Amino acid sequence: MAEKDIIPYRPGLEGVTAGISKISDVIAAENRLIYRGYDVRDLAANCSFEEVAYLILLGKLPNRRELSEFESQLKAHRELPAEVYATLKALPKGGNLMAALQVGVATLGMLDPKADDNSHDANLNKAIRLTACMPTLVANAYRILQGQEPVAPRNELGHAENFLYVLFGREPEPLHARVMNLTFILYAEHGYNASTFTAHVIASTLADMYSAVVGAIGALRGPLHGGANEAAMEAILEIGSPERAESWVMEKLAQKARIMGFGHREYKTGDIRAVILKDWVRQLAEQTGRTDLYEIQNIMERVMLREKNLHPNVDFPAATVYYMMGIPIPLYTPIFAAARIVGWTAHVIEQHDDNRLIRPRSDYAGPRDLVFKPIDERE
Ligand SMILES: CC(C)(COP(=O)(O)OP(=O)(O)OC[C@H]1O[C@@H](n2cnc3c(N)ncnc32)[C@H](O)[C@@H]1OP(=O)(O)O)[C@@H](O)C(=O)NCCC(=O)NCCS
Repeated sequence: MAEKDIIPYRPGLEGVTAGISKISDVIAAENRLIYRGYDVRDLAANCSFEEVAYLILLGKLPNRRELSEFESQLKAHRELPAEVYATLKALPKGGNLMAALQVGVATLGMLDPKADDNSHDANLNKAIRLTACMPTLVANAYRILQGQEPVAPRNELGHAENFLYVLFGREPEPLHARVMNLTFILYAEHGYNASTFTAHVIASTLADMYSAVVGAIGALRGPLHGGANEAAMEAILEIGSPERAESWVMEKLAQKARIMGFGHREYKTGDIRAVILKDWVRQLAEQTGRTDLYEIQNIMERVMLREKNLHPNVDFPAATVYYMMGIPIPLYTPIFAAARIVGWTAHVIEQHDDNRLIRPRSDYAGPRDLVFKPIDERE
């Protein structure tokens, strides 16, 4: 490569274009997010997760017939194969749920005779099947790690509603199903974030979709990415009461600590997904009598804006809506995965459809001319 072609290093690859995509666009300057051309605000206000998954995976909004066929496909693949349950049951009880998801997805890949077929149609089939069963995997892997029996999914329920049914073993309240549907939509896709980029890198070696998803789950686990929703809830619970919120944030900032659920690499004037979700935090707080949590969040938001000019990201309100629905904290990042599976798999399809190995370079910063010494002469 000629010296003139070398692009200077940018830490964290900030501002670097790493691919061309038709799936979604983060228009940070306008605080907008679009999926396949549609504003996420319109999708969040009007659509089921199933409609949005169709849009992201197939590139257009479905008509009634197309949606109904797609819903039937999803329902047909909700249940996990017996081998996946057997594998999950062999895992250490109380183990990490994100790791269990990786095991579950890897097992699904081992069971798929077409795992290594990276053609568009085979990949689309895999994407639909993974989207269908990820909520079952999340809920039942959680149950199994807790020493409980898995619950069979129910086909007359919607996608988000069924997830809550499998998790709790009873039908959810309509408000909870509605908010879960909304968070699934808001978490479904977000451009070249760390986990999706991981999926691209893996897919670019022509490895299969399951391998790409296993890697993406690993990237999502970190607290600077998907893990932030769990860390944000731990912080809110540690604060405990609105009176303590301001001093807690000020103390953490004085210690140069990061407040999880705030800031974003792309959005610098606010994350539209957090704005959409905030109204539902208020509604759930009123329904459950946990207005203290809503107040704590409001105070944290005010202090972070005043002190650091930082806005909340989607993980901040998502944490409290899940908490107020009674969902245990270790499920928050796995739920993110159950929604983002749509984006990950859509990106794997895009990568495989027009592939070039992703292989950037690094600037070597170590010594070059050390004199070699045989082992017995070394100090
Ligand atoms: C998401 C995130 C990694 C993006 O960060 P980034 O674009 O790399 O920005 P930087 O890490 O360079 O941070 C820029 C400045 O803001 C500060 N900052 C960023 N996020 C912060 C946070 N959540 N709490 C406190 N300070 C924060 C940094 O300390 C830095 O301050 P400095 O310039 O005084 O050193 C970062 O905002 C963060 O760590 N957020 C918390 C984790 C989180 O919520 N992740 C979910 C993202 S959807």
